[in-house]
Amino acid sequence: MTKAVLNIGLVGSGFMGRCHANAFRSVGGLFDLPFNIHLHTLADVDDETASLQAQKLGFAHSTGSWETLVDNPEIDVVAITAPNALHEAITLAAIQAGKHVYCEKPLSTTCDSAKRMTEAAEQAGTTTLVGFNFLRNPLIHYAKSLIESGDVGEVISFRGRHAEDYMGNPESPHSFRTDPDGGGALADIGSHIVSMARFLVGPITNVNAVTETVHKERPVKPGSSERRPVLVDDVAHALLEFGNGATGSIDVSWMMTGRTMDLSFEITGTQGAIQFSQERMNELLVWTRQGGDGNGGFRKIETGPAHPPYGNFCPAPGHHLGFNDLKVIEVAELMECIEQGKPHYTGFREGYEVQCTIDAMLLLPNKTNG
Ligand SMILES: NC(=O)c1ccc[n+]([C@@H]2O[C@H](COP(=O)([O-])OP(=O)(O)OC[C@H]3O[C@@H](n4cnc5c(N)ncnc54)[C@H](O)[C@@H]3O)[C@@H](O)[C@H]2O)c1
Repeated sequence: MTKAVLNIGLVGSGFMGRCHANAFRSVGGLFDLPFNIHLHTLADVDDETASLQAQKLGFAHSTGSWETLVDNPEIDVVAITAPNALHEAITLAAIQAGKHVYCEKPLSTTCDSAKRMTEAAEQAGTTTLVGFNFLRNPLIHYAKSLIESGDVGEVISFRGRHAEDYMGNPESPHSFRTDPDGGGALADIGSHIVSMARFLVGPITNVNAVTETVHKERPVKPGSSERRPVLVDDVAHALLEFGNGATGSIDVSWMMTGRTMDLSFEITGTQGAIQFSQERMNELLVWTRQGGDGNGGFRKIETGPAHPPYGNFCPAPGHHLGFNDLKVIEVAELMECIEQGKPHYTGFREGYEVQCTIDAMLLLPNKTNG
């Protein structure tokens, strides 16, 4: 039977736009999809940029106006990889036009905005997904299965951090990431570790955080001598209480020198413990009390076909998945949700919950600190 065609409109062609395009292009060869994916239109800041990037990334059409893309009745799914401050406007227009929406994290940069997006999507019955791609790692699902089966006992603590160094240099210029309407380390990377904590341990009911802006001003653009104040957080340290009684902490920094991608955690249970860092994303370190005394030390588990959907990529263990593969898995999950009309576990409602925890850490009005 011929499969229906699903037309994709992508807004943005930077770091994440390329990653989305790669995933949409390759997912059909790796997963048995319910649709044939067609890369329909790419939108970017102007016609020239959009046209160039559309050719490179394999889109049939291009436009310098995201509004034009969203209004096109042929497009079924709008994928948003534009700066954070644009997420709400593009999403609301796309929902109004009857599209499914696949939006990069953070869903938005305030809880109120994320709520408007979530309620609009739920009222329209559209399928949504927020790009918390690190949760697609098969080993993270294996970690969750160890927790759910009771192998590590009752979870008593989650110590997590997301630490990178891309803003460590005071000469790193302003970008949408330092835009007061759309940025800060907590929104940018804190959203990933908060989503990880919620996925593995459960809802966070209380937070208490300190945040700091370390570099008080930055160049307005690369190499410029003109500097503007920085009004967003560089670093955050938060204490957490979870609804199930576990406690923990989260550290977030985009200026942790020496760190490239330390999205990491240690989960302590009464009968065992689990450690992970995205810098070694194909390894999970596990300790369980089984075996008694003399059983000290974590055991390294390497990802392989026993951890689905690794086998879709490679039949042999230890050959490793990469960052872009997580996006391919994410797109496969999106296709299944669209076909079955079921919510995704990181649909907009989850993006909203994550943002509320971040608002509470930032002590914004309307925090949901309980
Ligand atoms: N899931 C992840 O692991 C991950 C990683 C990096 C970034 N992100 C998220 O992806 C989004 C984009 O980040 P990025 O690193 O790709 O940024 P980027 O700066 O590399 O790319 C942004 C793109 O949006 C385009 N753009 C800007 N304004 C636009 C407009 N008005 N209309 C259309 N296009 C416009 C830019 O020209 C560029 O192509 C952000 O929300 C960010 O938080 C997610």
